[in-house]
Amino acid sequence: MQTNKRPPASLLFIFGGSGDLNYRKLTPALYNLFLDNWMPEKFAIAGIGRSPYSNEAYHTHLLDGVSRFSRRKDQENQHWSEFAEHVSYLQMDGDNAEAYHLITDVVKQKEEEWGVHPNVIFYLAVAPQLVPSIAQKLGALKICSDKSSTRIVVEKPFGHDLKSAHELNELLAGMFTEEQIFRIDHYLGKETVQNILALRFANALFEPLWNRHYIDHVQITAAESVGLEGRGGYFERSGALRDMVQNHILQILCMVAMEPPVSFDANEIRNKKVDVLNAIRRIGKDQVHDYAVRGQYSKGWKKGQQVVGYREEEGVNPKSTIDTFAAAKFYIDNWRWQGVPFYVRTGKYLNEKATHITLEFKQAPHYAFPAEATETWRSNRLTISIQPNMDISIRFQSKRPGQTMDLDPVDMTFDYDKVAGEHLPEAYETLLLDVMEGDATLFMRGDQVDAAWKVIMPILETWENRTPVDFPNYAPDSWGPDEADALIGRDGHTWINFPPHD
Ligand code: BG6
Repeated sequence: MQTNKRPPASLLFIFGGSGDLNYRKLTPALYNLFLDNWMPEKFAIAGIGRSPYSNEAYHTHLLDGVSRFSRRKDQENQHWSEFAEHVSYLQMDGDNAEAYHLITDVVKQKEEEWGVHPNVIFYLAVAPQLVPSIAQKLGALKICSDKSSTRIVVEKPFGHDLKSAHELNELLAGMFTEEQIFRIDHYLGKETVQNILALRFANALFEPLWNRHYIDHVQITAAESVGLEGRGGYFERSGALRDMVQNHILQILCMVAMEPPVSFDANEIRNKKVDVLNAIRRIGKDQVHDYAVRGQYSKGWKKGQQVVGYREEEGVNPKSTIDTFAAAKFYIDNWRWQGVPFYVRTGKYLNEKATHITLEFKQAPHYAFPAEATETWRSNRLTISIQPNMDISIRFQSKRPGQTMDLDPVDMTFDYDKVAGEHLPEAYETLLLDVMEGDATLFMRGDQVDAAWKVIMPILETWENRTPVDFPNYAPDSWGPDEADALIGRDGHTWINFPPHD
């Protein structure tokens, strides 16, 4: 086993302990941290839920999730019983304030057993409407006044719009300090997303070119090949713009566009990101149709299988106007990016699962080559593939081998996957470890969430007030509605799609 600097003693309470997020993501991540020797020497995890479970039945349920969803699912789980000794189930109604003494009892018991006061972490893996009430009841507990070791983790969606996000921030601020609040955006925990910072700020090569003088435009695609996956109820209140753009895509955009940080201090990084969000030009309500496109999938065929349209999905209104696709163009009004369009898009049931960022460079100022030599000329392009491909690729011109001076574009690629192989941690592993260590760099600060809502509110409000007349407007397995091509085509560009690796 490797020797790691492990976090201090920690006690994790997972609200939604019998729910899907814990089953698919949190427990597999915690178990992987355990296998990689990253869990604290002293730790305990208590899943909280209403459903009745004995500890044994709970362990069996969680192990099932590990064998189905862990990155190590194919390997034998021979250390599971050692891990499971640290896990218990607390049947409790989160709505009942009187039940919260059960939590205090567990904390006291562990303190006595371990001889130290541990980090106490409350992870709210529950439906967003339950967050305020649970947070209020936790806030009333004496242990929460310990600002240095008690933390609360809140999952996305953080609010439903600017107003509700602001209210939730205020409510949390009434009980916890900002340092105690960890707002999760799991994209920030992805290795390849974190690598954007390494690429930009650990190399002298790119930064001089990383601006409006050399970059023509930027594209960010987060395409999903899956559909709703049974989340009709949630998606009807959300839509693609809220579900993916307000958080994941804007966070990626911030990492691409931010100024170099002075240090890796959590607030320094987050200040630089907020600066980007605040500099994004507000889209006037009368301009929304020029800057944003929404779509909804119809019934059709997905990789040879017949699938229903969004409006026929379970839990969905047959006349729903919810967007399952969203694309937008943003400008960042600062010295670095003035005039450079950032095109973003996301959608369900698209042709492929693919998240990537492309920086398209401007043309070289002059070509000395004869016209026929440059027939296949293409501009330089830097592509950062986040998932499922994990690579960084640079396209440049090269001489075609042979006696003539002809040029062809070629790619130089760094394959992150090949270097990291199976050891690559999942986003939730990184984020859970950071919570235990108290490092908030990869978490959203309150003002960051507000600033991101401010960016998308004009689009959201306009869409909510104008019924789309063309829904459904894209077929499964396509790349979204034609209007999305027009959005970028009006500026003389096209969306870049990459074939997946073999
Ligand atoms: C979640 C969204 O935040 O991210 C889902 O709610 C989406 O709708 C998911 O499918 C995508 O995450 P990933 O890691 O699979 O790209």
